Amino acid sequence: MTLGDLTVNRLGFGAMRVCGPDVWGEPADRAAAKRLLVRAFELGHNLFDTADSYGPHVSERLIAEALHPYPKELVIATKGGLVRPDRHRWERDARPEHLRRALDGSLKRLRLERIDVYQLHAPDPKVPFAESVGALADMRRAGKIRHVGLSNVSAQQLDEARRIVPIVSVQNRYNLEDRTHEDVLDACEKLGIAFLPWYPLGAGEALQSKAVRTIAARLRATPSQVALAWLLAKSPMMLPIPGTGSIAHLEENSAAAALTLSREDLAQLALQKGNAGV
Ligand SMILES: NC(=O)c1ccc[n+]([C@@H]2O[C@H](COP(=O)([O-])OP(=O)(O)OC[C@H]3O[C@@H](n4cnc5c(N)ncnc54)[C@H](OP(=O)(O)O)[C@@H]3O)[C@@H](O)[C@H]2O)c1
Repeated sequence: MTLGDLTVNRLGFGAMRVCGPDVWGEPADRAAAKRLLVRAFELGHNLFDTADSYGPHVSERLIAEALHPYPKELVIATKGGLVRPDRHRWERDARPEHLRRALDGSLKRLRLERIDVYQLHAPDPKVPFAESVGALADMRRAGKIRHVGLSNVSAQQLDEARRIVPIVSVQNRYNLEDRTHEDVLDACEKLGIAFLPWYPLGAGEALQSKAVRTIAARLRATPSQVALAWLLAKSPMMLPIPGTGSIAHLEENSAAAALTLSREDLAQLALQKGNAGV
């Protein structure tokens, strides 16, 4: 599928879980984290999602250490707009001056002159949304961003942003149990832009339902493969970015791209929607 002029496989990789516990600090085993990143690319995940706030800075640094100089097929999508005063806090800061500094930091850590996909991590209620997006548009004009993406936005905010700068992707929470952002997914489909569901496994929660487990057992697949195959079947614009710190889970998840669910299985999974969360 495409992100602007870039082509990527439909199953990406979420690089948030390569950091230490609570997405804070270094992982216990940096060498293992780097091996995981290399393996993710080898398995065909050529869209890596990260952010300056993961660690903070740790995920971006590990990606560069593991994979720079980058293979030409690898697309790195990072984000700015959140800060981490401590391990339990994720605070919004989408002031233009902060986004400019954040982008420069990401360029340096990722050892890039231009970020392929730079996503606004979340709108900041203290800053007019158009100002945050306008800052990304300026940095795109300056050649530091190839394509702009959004995260944690409403369909109205997507419309507003598109009047300022072309948008290639939206990243919102979405999985079998939580389909709150169905309207944003619909908008992405109409526009032909990628929808990156974060928490595609509901951080493990979407794997617990009876329907998922029953279908997985029948197909000799795993619950995570069923949850990811359901997402892939749900929309041609869906680009899941499952995250893991485990090579075994990574290998299991990547095999989901080859799993086809029948019409009956899809109908059954559609019925078990929980619509929990926000
Ligand atoms: N834009 C945003 O605001 C936002 C917010 C959150 C996340 N994200 C992005 O979305 C990506 C995915 O989100 P996520 O990592 O939080 O959630 P997720 O992919 O739904 O779930 C990851 C969790 O599920 C476990 N898991 C992974 N594969 C599994 C498998 N095959 N079987 C059983 N358990 C499995 C992982 O544990 P193990 O490590 O043990 O495998 C981890 O605890 C992140 O990496 C990040 O890039 C974006």
